Amino acid sequence: MEQEPAKRILLGVTGGIAAYKAAELLRLLMKQGMEVQVAMTEAACRFITPTTMQGLSGKPVLTSQWDTGMADGMAHISPSRAADAIVIAPATADFIAKLAHGLANDLLSSLCLARNCPLLVAPAMNREMWQSAATQRNIAQLLADGVQVLGPDCGMQACGEEGMGRMLEAGRLAQDIAAFFQPKLFSGKKILITAGPTYEAIDAVRGITNRSSGKMGYAIAQAALEQGAEVVLVSGPTALAKPRGAQGVDVVSAAQMFEAVQQHVGDCDIFIGVAAVADYRVAQPSEQKIKKSAAALTLELVPNPDILAHVAGLPDPPFCVGFAAESEDLAKHAEQKRCVKNLPLLVGNLAQQAIGSDENELVLFDDSGSHVLPRADKLTLARLLMQHIAQRYEGAYK
Ligand code: C5P
Repeated sequence: MEQEPAKRILLGVTGGIAAYKAAELLRLLMKQGMEVQVAMTEAACRFITPTTMQGLSGKPVLTSQWDTGMADGMAHISPSRAADAIVIAPATADFIAKLAHGLANDLLSSLCLARNCPLLVAPAMNREMWQSAATQRNIAQLLADGVQVLGPDCGMQACGEEGMGRMLEAGRLAQDIAAFFQPKLFSGKKILITAGPTYEAIDAVRGITNRSSGKMGYAIAQAALEQGAEVVLVSGPTALAKPRGAQGVDVVSAAQMFEAVQQHVGDCDIFIGVAAVADYRVAQPSEQKIKKSAAALTLELVPNPDILAHVAGLPDPPFCVGFAAESEDLAKHAEQKRCVKNLPLLVGNLAQQAIGSDENELVLFDDSGSHVLPRADKLTLARLLMQHIAQRYEGAYK
């Protein structure tokens, strides 16, 4: 898989108290491998200094169209030509009004008007300013002009009031910006994903489960959404919030997961079984709590249905992707599973590295051999995996 060139962001900071969050956003964008050039309005420089942003970005900050030292004298145009997107964070009510009306009376507004790249704005203002008819008219105009509006968020405001208008947290903005750049490889496709562990009851209060956190499956759901898919996420018990836009179906046991998958698999194009489904369940779980006694207790376990094998064996199956968490001999066991379950693609990982962790390393097994996705956070791996699935899916249905 070819490495995408680093995305270049022109980060515009305008004069609101949320400007302090722009420093964190800058760091997070750079951490994601993006190149960031900062431009600040005069008012922004009263909230946070250009020195801070220069120190973090490693580049002089653009603050004036008159004194930029740019050889071509085109400070109001050139920086936007060198950007893949302009992000305004925070975007004040005043700056949003300027954008909506096409004003260009300072460097940042000129850069926005002269741009030939996408514009993303993260509004930040008092709740009354946000709700005002004028701001709402301006936001509607920006949306109609194709501008991406990120947020705002609801909650406590710097002025002490509570409501809509806070800027989204830097982490969420960084994620939304990265999502914006994802290729829309799955537009019009429906992807069904299982994630998390299952829980098989022994009695009213006890059960058999495993240490799967659901993080990998949820990251894959997030990546699929970013790349334009409609996503149904069938999840066993986890502590995670479903990615925005996914249709979530909560289940507990393998039998419930099987039923939910059967309900949704009909019109899906791709099925990705990430769940750590319990191989066995208790034959006859007790409705009441089993009382302790001195005698040994024997539980009869019966096998659960193999959901993935069932889907892959349907007469007209979706493109099926399996996961194999192994504690040893990854390649041997993963290839075996791929053959037995008749899968075009199986993703292997080492259980001891994967379970519960925020990072992982994946090995993809398909007809053409194996392919390593080196250690990275699970969302990065999920995005790369989805790109690989897109290639294989396209190849399989050509
Ligand atoms: O448990 P095993 O290693 O066989 O899991 C491999 C793949 O099969 C995983 O993708 C898992 O989600 C799926 N699976 C399933 N139903 C089961 C067991 C596993 O869908 N009962």
